[in-house]
Amino acid sequence: MLSQFELSDYDRAADFIRDQAGSHQGRLAELDTVGLVLGSGLNALALAIGDAVVIPYESIPHFPTSTATGHEGRLLIGTLAGRIVVAMQGRFHFYEGYSAAEVTFPIRVMRRLGVDRLILTNAAGGLNPEFCAGDFMLIVDHLNLVGMAGHSPLIGPNIESFGTRFPSMTEAYAGSMRRLALETAAALKIELRQGVYAYLAGPNFESPAEIRFLRLAGADAVGMSTVPEALVGNHAGMQVLGISTITNMAIDQLDTDRDTNHEEVLETGERVVPLLTALLSGILERL
Ligand code: HPA
Repeated sequence: MLSQFELSDYDRAADFIRDQAGSHQGRLAELDTVGLVLGSGLNALALAIGDAVVIPYESIPHFPTSTATGHEGRLLIGTLAGRIVVAMQGRFHFYEGYSAAEVTFPIRVMRRLGVDRLILTNAAGGLNPEFCAGDFMLIVDHLNLVGMAGHSPLIGPNIESFGTRFPSMTEAYAGSMRRLALETAAALKIELRQGVYAYLAGPNFESPAEIRFLRLAGADAVGMSTVPEALVGNHAGMQVLGISTITNMAIDQLDTDRDTNHEEVLETGERVVPLLTALLSGILERL
């Protein structure tokens, strides 16, 4: 049997966070809170969160700590576009050596805090030849290659208080949230591409043959996060929205003088933060 967290572990973390939430505590209980996960290079988006109570991950019971560069390790509770958000400034990845259950621990804690809408952001490599570095892509569906290889956060004893043993993933990214994101982008004249996100474990970037394989499989972007969080969110009945920043175009040929590197991912992420902040704020206003 895999070692798993129990409901009481999630509740201990949630109780701790609630205690720390200060003046936001009352509003946290109104069940109108949105969860936000900030991906690579998107750290600075946290600066837009007002009146933030900052809780370092290492102080929260059972929370893993963030080891990836470009990921701070803190939880922020504050206001964005007039709404209370619980934001992860830095997330956990499978490639850091955490189990899928550890990677998604904070999402279930958010659920116990009353969060029922979850906005996941990430940095991703572009596979669709029509995309460019700096584009935003609304995730419409995913290829969970890590899950297919047996690493799902939902493996192990099912906690019925969260959801059913066999959750559907027919609409892993809620249609209502996707429509709202598209309407917001159109109103703000921000181009929002749409596509399928392929989830790989990393930490290496993909080989050219892998890129061609993923494209054949129907993926438009590739990355190392988000899907486990979307699974756990769906399992727990949350409405999930996923937005990728295409930070680099994936390289699909041998013998080019181009290469993929983490610095490029962070640089592009940082460059688009103001636009992404506008898009997310617009979405929150319309929720
Ligand atoms: N591949 C995988 N993950 C990524 C990439 C990529 O090209 N860019 C940003 N995250």
